[in-house]
Amino acid sequence: MLADKHILLIVGGGIAAFKSLDLVRRLREKGARVTPVLTKAGAAFVTPLSLSALSASKIYQELFDLTDEAEMGHIELSRAADLIVVAPATADLMAKMAGGHANDLASTLLLATDKRVLIAPSMNVRMWDHPATQRNLVALQNDGVLVVGPNEGDMACGEYGPGRMAEVPEIIAAIDAALSGGPLKGRHVLVTSGPTHEPIDPVRYIANRSSGAQGTAIAKALATLGAEVTFVTGPADVPPPQGVNVVRVQTAQEMLQAVMAAPTADAAVFAAAVADWHVANAGNSKIKKDKTGLPTLEFAENPDILATVSQMKSGRPRLVVGFAAETDDVVANATAKRDRKGCDWIVANDVSPETGIMGGSENAVTLITEEGVAAWPRMGKEAVAVELSNLIAKAIA
Ligand code: C5P
Repeated sequence: MLADKHILLIVGGGIAAFKSLDLVRRLREKGARVTPVLTKAGAAFVTPLSLSALSASKIYQELFDLTDEAEMGHIELSRAADLIVVAPATADLMAKMAGGHANDLASTLLLATDKRVLIAPSMNVRMWDHPATQRNLVALQNDGVLVVGPNEGDMACGEYGPGRMAEVPEIIAAIDAALSGGPLKGRHVLVTSGPTHEPIDPVRYIANRSSGAQGTAIAKALATLGAEVTFVTGPADVPPPQGVNVVRVQTAQEMLQAVMAAPTADAAVFAAAVADWHVANAGNSKIKKDKTGLPTLEFAENPDILATVSQMKSGRPRLVVGFAAETDDVVANATAKRDRKGCDWIVANDVSPETGIMGGSENAVTLITEEGVAAWPRMGKEAVAVELSNLIAKAIA
């Protein structure tokens, strides 16, 4: 996969920069072309001469180097490569990337590129654990940046913990995966998300509470792994992610139609909070409040989209994942739901008001599969999405 590929390697300022010299050698052994960009801080750890000797390439260091601009402008430099690798990615470089800064050559290239970016973070454990770095990490992952490492171990500064840059073979494996388009390349995954709105009349509706945050994060994580994603969404609070096929619906009936009309999927994730009922006697004109006293709403059951797809005789996705938002006996109810609906996995969560999960940024889920029950620690909805997508990739790869 690496033969004849062009890697733009940004070397940041960290003690792990010495490993980047070996990375250049190994990449070239595998037939890749490497163009190094050395940050000012990076040049304090490795010399331009050693990088240029190992890469057999010109080294780029300055944003306003007129010769470089004449030969190859920074925009072109950022796009000529097949992949941009940042190794080591320091806390400062990550912060610049997350903030969209463009005040030196490396950050400008990272902002201007239209190529995938893989970072290999390396820093002191406290810096890695700092909420600012962790916030930046989530922001970068949301932007589709790929991350390898860091590993846990003894650090050059004498401390122990996560922060060591991934080893060269790990970085090469991650580069290989990134260049091959991700583990879900060629796979189609359907995701439902958000609430449905069931009209009472043209101006009123009933709905479940749902921000659409979890479903949106899942669609984004799946797309980052290379999947083609059909994202069927009700009226959610958060905008749909980039790079997916968005189908907007209002009602459960419309959501079912959109799901059935989508191309055959390898996996389907039903994260939508579909209303269980619609109003059978919904009015075509606004119900007046002073007419004949209080209106009486008649409810009729909505189609169960998850159960319908789970029980499809032909064209059923190989993996069907449902959600179970429960307020009591979460695992027992969710396990029963898995059997009743016929899906393969259920992602169960406790949405009692005291958990703050509904509409919040975190989730505490339990994954129920044929193999058993796994309770995940409380984490951000993006992290849940990344973990779940990785498992889906393993299941349908
Ligand atoms: O039955 P309950 O609504 O608790 O089931 C939740 C799961 O079923 C979720 O995955 C949800 O997206 C899905 N569902 C559905 N169609 C419905 C109701 C729920 O797809 N009408």
